[in-house]
Amino acid sequence: MPTCLVLLAPSANHVYAGEAPELSAAEISLTCPGVQDVRQVAVAGIDYLELDVDDLSQNRLEALSRASASMACFIREGELLRPVALPATDVVDDDLVTIPKYQGKTNEQFTRLLLNVTLASLQGSPAARRDTGERLSVLDPMCGRGTTLTTCWLAGHNGFGVEDDARAVEAMAAHLSTWLRRKRLKHTARTSKVRREGRAIGRRFDAELRLPGAEPLSIGVFTGDTRDSGSLWGRRTFDAIVTDAPYGVVHGSHTGGGKDRSPAALLAEALPVWAGQLRRGGTLGLSWNTHGLSREDLLDLLGEAGLEPLDGPAWSHFSHRVDSSIQRDLAVAVKP
Ligand SMILES: C[S@@+](CC[C@H](N)C(=O)[O-])C[C@H]1O[C@@H](n2cnc3c(N)ncnc32)[C@H](O)[C@@H]1O
Repeated sequence: MPTCLVLLAPSANHVYAGEAPELSAAEISLTCPGVQDVRQVAVAGIDYLELDVDDLSQNRLEALSRASASMACFIREGELLRPVALPATDVVDDDLVTIPKYQGKTNEQFTRLLLNVTLASLQGSPAARRDTGERLSVLDPMCGRGTTLTTCWLAGHNGFGVEDDARAVEAMAAHLSTWLRRKRLKHTARTSKVRREGRAIGRRFDAELRLPGAEPLSIGVFTGDTRDSGSLWGRRTFDAIVTDAPYGVVHGSHTGGGKDRSPAALLAEALPVWAGQLRRGGTLGLSWNTHGLSREDLLDLLGEAGLEPLDGPAWSHFSHRVDSSIQRDLAVAVKP
């Protein structure tokens, strides 16, 4: 069984401070098939993740390449390290995700990690579709300026969203439209009014990217309250829901009565709506600030919404410090 050393991108340390190796090891353990026993090692003073993998087939290397922080891979041969090329897996250029900079943006690397662990946990027909390389449909029901949605395009999936800050949706539409034009990619992009019973209730932005020889990629976003996501998207269901909940600090959660420092009240109302939008076997991946809501209470809310939270040692390594007021964790739950 080959032993590989994975070198992590230096940016991962900026995102997670000293916790990058632990988070990345947990991500690789959950998302890379055939990988066993991921451990932290140092070789000649450089830190790596060392792991045993059953073989070095293309799909094993693609999974390692997709991991949010992996930069390079080597096979250990006695005292020597032999480089192995990691295949390029992104479907579009990653500057789509990295160019926008704004307060409240969810870190790009963390968004990739959350998407990876959520899609790796799919079951039933959504998992079968993932394994045959079909495009999946992912909803971010509090999508901000769309980091999850553009990260979905990188991974070859369709991204849909709801966001109640209309200016955030406008900014996302402007960035995406400019980026598509600048890259000279075949596309359509338009914003339109949304009417219900003759009354204007908000706007929606839709973009489609047509890459040669591939199914088109879609992004679609409604302005509106996430608790109305079910009525906004109608009967449409999704393979996965991936969202970074408001931290109650930079972004208050808008529960109707002004800003609430904790997202707990909003999540209690929104989770049953989101659960209704998931296909059977689909997964919901959520990150949140544990200073406002404990992991135990969040898992209870997921259960009350009819979802089955995944728990156990593999899920206990993702909690990390963002700043003095935010300790972020993630949870993934399956729709039975
Ligand atoms: C942590 S931010 C997500 C940022 C996003 N991932 C990005 O990178 O742009 C949480 C988002 O939830 C939105 N939000 C808060 N309460 C909401 C509600 N009731 N309905 C819809 N969106 C809401 C906020 O406006 C904010 O954009």
